[in-house]
Amino acid sequence: MKNRFQTTAENILDHARWAPSGDNMQTWRFEIVDTHCFIVHGYDTRDHCVYDLEGHASQLAIGALLESIAIAASAFKCRAEFQLDENALETKPTINVQLIEDKNIEQDPLFLYLPKRSVQRRMLKTTPLSLKDKSKLEQSVGNFYNIKWIEGWRARLQAAFLMYKNGRLRLILPEAFPTHSTIIEWNSRFSDDKIPDQAVGLDMVAMRMMRWAMKSWKRVSFLNTFLAGTLLPRIELDLLPGIACAAHFSLVAEKEPRTMEDYLNAGRAVQRFWLTSTMLGLQLQPEMTPLIFSGYIKNKVEFTKTQKIHDYAVDLSKVFKRLMGGEAVIDKAVFVGRIGYGKPAKARSLRLSLEQLEYKR
Ligand SMILES: Cc1cc2nc3c(=O)[nH]c(=O)nc-3n(C[C@H](O)[C@H](O)[C@H](O)COP(=O)(O)O)c2cc1C
Repeated sequence: MKNRFQTTAENILDHARWAPSGDNMQTWRFEIVDTHCFIVHGYDTRDHCVYDLEGHASQLAIGALLESIAIAASAFKCRAEFQLDENALETKPTINVQLIEDKNIEQDPLFLYLPKRSVQRRMLKTTPLSLKDKSKLEQSVGNFYNIKWIEGWRARLQAAFLMYKNGRLRLILPEAFPTHSTIIEWNSRFSDDKIPDQAVGLDMVAMRMMRWAMKSWKRVSFLNTFLAGTLLPRIELDLLPGIACAAHFSLVAEKEPRTMEDYLNAGRAVQRFWLTSTMLGLQLQPEMTPLIFSGYIKNKVEFTKTQKIHDYAVDLSKVFKRLMGGEAVIDKAVFVGRIGYGKPAKARSLRLSLEQLEYKR
């Protein structure tokens, strides 16, 4: 593998930084200790992001980063060993990484897909997944996770309607506005640290409406009250893509995740699943918010001051539970999304450079 940087650590991190994170927040910074040792300084966004109030979304992303490091290390004839710093704050997962050289290590076939893997938020083909592809995807997550598939027209339609209703929750929730109004880079096909508007999945008219609305909560509220403002985005972002895919899926852990380590490991499995789907020519979009809000309801996490919205989320969590196959499944679910054959997205999030990701005390 070509060395762009002086240290093996930097060369590996340069590939691993393509790991996915909620809203492309890249909740990590890197401290190089020496050529074969570095520290991942992770953090969560619970202080400002309503989708991360327990830190789990960030922990999954950091787990995906660790798996990316392990995969990238194989291309540099190294094995990565991870040590979670037990004294670190819960909001700041800190992981010491040691790279052990090993001439016999073969490059992981997923390595080439690290920078290619990306979200596709637009409609996909409805062609069912082949048995071969399903089996490869099921194998990719290892022994401690299962995939629950939601397939067939009827089930996809149910999932799409759930996402459509869930879209309303996201758009009428005042607590989500600070996130929605800051994560989109307007008039862009690419963005280093946000989501470019062209990757969101809206057409020009809906996009203009959203751009106008996102200037203030007053505007969003006006649109929602008088012009059925949530309708068009929900049809384009949730309903149609929810129908137009091969399947929805849920990654279900063997045991209910409880600790930070459980979520980091789950993130590792997510990344293997996502990279494998890219290798198989499949496109994927996470659909995490029903799972996130169901978790809040279950754990009594206060995510809104508006009682009506809370009650709406309670109703949605019941529908979600039914769709997923009951409480036993939902408690162990760590990741939800849709998947299907189709072209990769033309617009996508990029990443901060290694220099920009350097840890500063
Ligand atoms: C834990 C996690 C949750 C995510 N949730 C969603 C989601 O609910 N909807 C969505 O469209 N994308 C979701 N994403 C995808 C991110 O927005 C995406 O990975 C990020 O913007 C970087 O873009 P890329 O994956 O195309 O490189 C999620 C990603 C992660 C890691």
